[in-house]
Amino acid sequence: MQTFRIRGGTPLEGSVTVRGAKNAVSKIMVAALLTDEPCLLRNVPDIDDVKIVSELIRMLGGDVRYEDGTVAIHAKNLRTVDPSDLHQVAGKSRIPILFAGPLLHRLGEALVPELGGCQIGKRPVDFHLKALEMLGAEISSVPKGFLMKSKRLQGEKIRLEYPSVGATEQVLLAAVLAQGKTELSHAAVEPEIMDLIAVLQKMGAVISVDTDRTITIIGVERLGGYVHTVITDRIEVASWGCAAFATNGRVLVKNARQGDLTTFLNSYRQIGGAFEVRDDGIVFWRGEPLRSIALETDVHPGFMTDWQQPFSVLLTQVPGASIIHETVYEDRFGYVEALNRMGAKMQLYTECLGGRPCRFGQKNHLHSAVVTGPSKLHGAEITVPNLRAGFSYVVAALAAEGETVLHQMEIIRRGYEDFEKKLRGLGASFDTMEEKDLTGVSC
Ligand code: EPU
Repeated sequence: MQTFRIRGGTPLEGSVTVRGAKNAVSKIMVAALLTDEPCLLRNVPDIDDVKIVSELIRMLGGDVRYEDGTVAIHAKNLRTVDPSDLHQVAGKSRIPILFAGPLLHRLGEALVPELGGCQIGKRPVDFHLKALEMLGAEISSVPKGFLMKSKRLQGEKIRLEYPSVGATEQVLLAAVLAQGKTELSHAAVEPEIMDLIAVLQKMGAVISVDTDRTITIIGVERLGGYVHTVITDRIEVASWGCAAFATNGRVLVKNARQGDLTTFLNSYRQIGGAFEVRDDGIVFWRGEPLRSIALETDVHPGFMTDWQQPFSVLLTQVPGASIIHETVYEDRFGYVEALNRMGAKMQLYTECLGGRPCRFGQKNHLHSAVVTGPSKLHGAEITVPNLRAGFSYVVAALAAEGETVLHQMEIIRRGYEDFEKKLRGLGASFDTMEEKDLTGVSC
């Protein structure tokens, strides 16, 4: 277990380089299992999620090599995995379920362990299972997971109840080699999904995306390898942008892509944040005047649910009452109690505040927040519950008076490359300590 002791009050100054998006890299790595040809992915960050997916691919017989930001995958010969081996990685990630389509095509069966990932809601997999069944997979429950079998999958018309990122990727990865046409409506169209589609197209797939969130996939007989440079992680970019604002510093985030951040940049500017888009990235700092805002998280092109946590720390620093309506996850305000202990004034509500009614209204989920500012933040001792909450505590700690002790900071390694080095490079004042893992919690 890693503990950080952060002394607040130093403005962050300098630059950080952000590499590929965690939530695109892992799926593009899974796509390499759709072919027996070699695949090469560039701009890959050295984060725990990449290690977990590499481990899974190796277990299945694929060759994975990572060197200096490039991952080479060759899934020439795949094999059915031993359940006891597979369960060692169960609970660590949400990616294993996305192996279903490629494995069904390559081996005729797939064993999918129970999923992990950050605890930010129930996160069921019903959309995935329903879509796979519609494509022809036979699914049975086995201890700690699902066993799936199929002959060749068949194209279908599928409508998602909600534009789920994972379920959209599931259908893409399963339908590209299916027989016939698959029409997926109410699909997610996040930039990371578009990047996956770009890779699949490079491999030989035929996929079109319509203006009404319908994705049409015409199945092909075989796919070839790919060489691809993954898009920049827009969640990490926004996280450093928030850290610059909160500490009244100035940070150049190299490789930031404006087009993937339009909604974030609008909200950042509305509350008084300033930025300059340059050829090599975006410079972020705190401007003026500071103003409150009402915002709602949503699927793309809305305000990302993963930007919500660090951004809420900024709202504790602007005058007036701001509203956040979280519409993607029913339980993404778990981090608020600790922020309030640091001096924030955030009140949670079950009602849909400040926007349109969402599917969590009237269901007793605390999914809206009113943030009253400005608040003077002070240090506290906190155990980090999940990745994005972890970064938001770091942002709050950097802006706070005194020392904040953050336990379980190893969670940050899942999604932020060289976190400690970057933070030090920006001039933050902190010490780290490795402690014996008492909890065994994996995010
Ligand atoms: N949902 C269902 N049934 C399903 C699938 C999803 O009800 O079968 C619900 C979820 O419970 C949630 C909503 O649909 O309420 C959206 O979930 P989605 O499937 O879109 O999320 P995901 O694919 O599991 C990815 C990212 C998350 C990110 C979300 C939303 C990965 C590995 N994870 O999750 O990233 O918040 O999309 O953009 O890509 C993070 O990076 O910290 C993170 C949590």
